[in-house]
Amino acid sequence: MKTSNNTILITGGSAGIGLATAKAFLAKGNEVIITGRDAKRLEQAAAQLPGVHTIVSDVSSETAVDELVQTIRTKFPQLNVLINNAGYAVAYTITPGQETWKEAEKEMYTNYVSVVRLTEKLLPVLQQQAAAAVVNVTSIVAYAPGLHIPTYSASKAALNSYSKILRLSLKDTSIKVFELMPPLVNTDFSAGIGGANGIAPEVVANDLLNSMEQDVYNIHTGKTADIYELLKVSPTAALNAMNGVTA
Ligand SMILES: NC(=O)c1ccc[n+]([C@@H]2O[C@H](COP(=O)([O-])OP(=O)(O)OC[C@H]3O[C@@H](n4cnc5c(N)ncnc54)[C@H](OP(=O)(O)O)[C@@H]3O)[C@@H](O)[C@H]2O)c1
Repeated sequence: MKTSNNTILITGGSAGIGLATAKAFLAKGNEVIITGRDAKRLEQAAAQLPGVHTIVSDVSSETAVDELVQTIRTKFPQLNVLINNAGYAVAYTITPGQETWKEAEKEMYTNYVSVVRLTEKLLPVLQQQAAAAVVNVTSIVAYAPGLHIPTYSASKAALNSYSKILRLSLKDTSIKVFELMPPLVNTDFSAGIGGANGIAPEVVANDLLNSMEQDVYNIHTGKTADIYELLKVSPTAALNAMNGVTA
């Protein structure tokens, strides 16, 4: 997949991995559209990203997604890359009586259902292009769940599964499906889960560009590669390694 001269929509592009990815793609001569819920944050991001287009849009709102798709159809009908990056995590431990299912429902909705919906709605646009791609941002925890982020891990495992089937379903079309699986990354998102020890978002963005160029569809950035190798040998060992548990 070429990484220049594309028109790319990045959900959640005003911070972290999305922002670094927008920067990297702009530097390679792509048209880039970023979304986010907070207009001010998008404005601040745009100040660092000359030429970027911004659209205020919440992936978890059906109305907002319909408006976004309409804007893409009219203003950017040449869109050929969708990067499903927006997502969040709620840190909690499984404790009886805490009604964590209420948060779980929202988390699954944003991280999984919203990705399925936006992808489905944009497939007709992507299908019109000679070469297109969908990039789903999942996580190392799709392979080995984290103790303090149970639903988040499950949402990324669901998206991992969906990405495989999407790839299979689109195998005879012009649309390639990539899955970006970062380990811990130092962003606002990860501040509450030890993110300061994570890798820089720029490392993730560069890995995505290089992998797309080489048509590497499962992108195991940094420590994700180690967990993946361990998983093939022993899922329990991978789970323990992920959570610092000694057998
Ligand atoms: N950081 C990590 O350690 C890590 C590791 C593996 C995978 N990931 C994944 O990487 C992706 C990006 O994470 P990040 O660390 O870069 O997060 P981040 O620094 O918190 O940035 C998240 C971006 O998404 C936007 N956003 C959040 N909820 C949104 C919504 N409902 N609709 C539209 N935009 C929304 C935010 O802007 P607004 O708040 O203004 O909407 C912001 O631009 C996520 O899918 C995350 O699960 C992160």
